[in-house]
Amino acid sequence: MRETKTLEQAIRERRSTPSFDGSPMPPEDLRQILEAGMAAPSGYNVQPWRFVVVQTPEQKRKLRAACFNQAKVEEASVVIVCCGDADSWRRDADEIIRMGLSGGMPESYAAQLKTYVQNYLSSLNEDQMHGWLNKQVSLAAAFMLLTAETMGYDTAPLEGFEQERVHEVLRLPLSYWVVSLLAIGTLQGTDKYDGGRFGLAHAVSSEEYGKPLR
Ligand SMILES: Cc1cc2nc3c(=O)[nH]c(=O)nc-3n(C[C@H](O)[C@H](O)[C@H](O)COP(=O)(O)O)c2cc1C
Repeated sequence: MRETKTLEQAIRERRSTPSFDGSPMPPEDLRQILEAGMAAPSGYNVQPWRFVVVQTPEQKRKLRAACFNQAKVEEASVVIVCCGDADSWRRDADEIIRMGLSGGMPESYAAQLKTYVQNYLSSLNEDQMHGWLNKQVSLAAAFMLLTAETMGYDTAPLEGFEQERVHEVLRLPLSYWVVSLLAIGTLQGTDKYDGGRFGLAHAVSSEEYGKPLR
């Protein structure tokens, strides 16, 4: 039986897991984690994240090779490859409006939404689109990471991968941009050291840059 944690414990005790024991994850746990990602907020509610779940030994082995041979990719119970689809809004705009209206979106906003989204997202060049996707997908990845930690799993976010090689291994559509990988499983051996965190004063200003928060 896994020891569940409160969100506060998960945030405080989490480390980026150095090594996993490879034990399988029950499908219902995987679904719960993925549902948390789906529940994340996103610009205009476009929800441009796309998750490729990798669990088979063969696919994990290939994915590891696309991740600079990081062993945890192969050892994890599940690796969720967190992607953004640059074209999702084109396909999904009507459904986003339909869901919004059924949840109480004002008619006046619904009438404008497609134009807003289209004007904004079609104006982005490729780099800007990748930046936009990075923002959206990273939030969904954080929701999944913390949910997995509260369920008693150990996690490791990964940016050490080669975009093109991951594309090849997973046969991703051209419109997909790989943002990060999330390895989830059970810690094997000793957990990572605590790298430490700066105090609030290092990063936080109040009202304008450089004014300390009192
Ligand atoms: C987006 C992201 C990508 C990361 N990529 C890797 C990675 O490829 N390999 C790795 O060993 N750790 C990776 N890390 C883990 C960081 O090194 C780790 O979060 C940091 O050192 C702080 O340690 P902690 O997570 O244990 O607090 C990544 C973390 C984040 C947030």
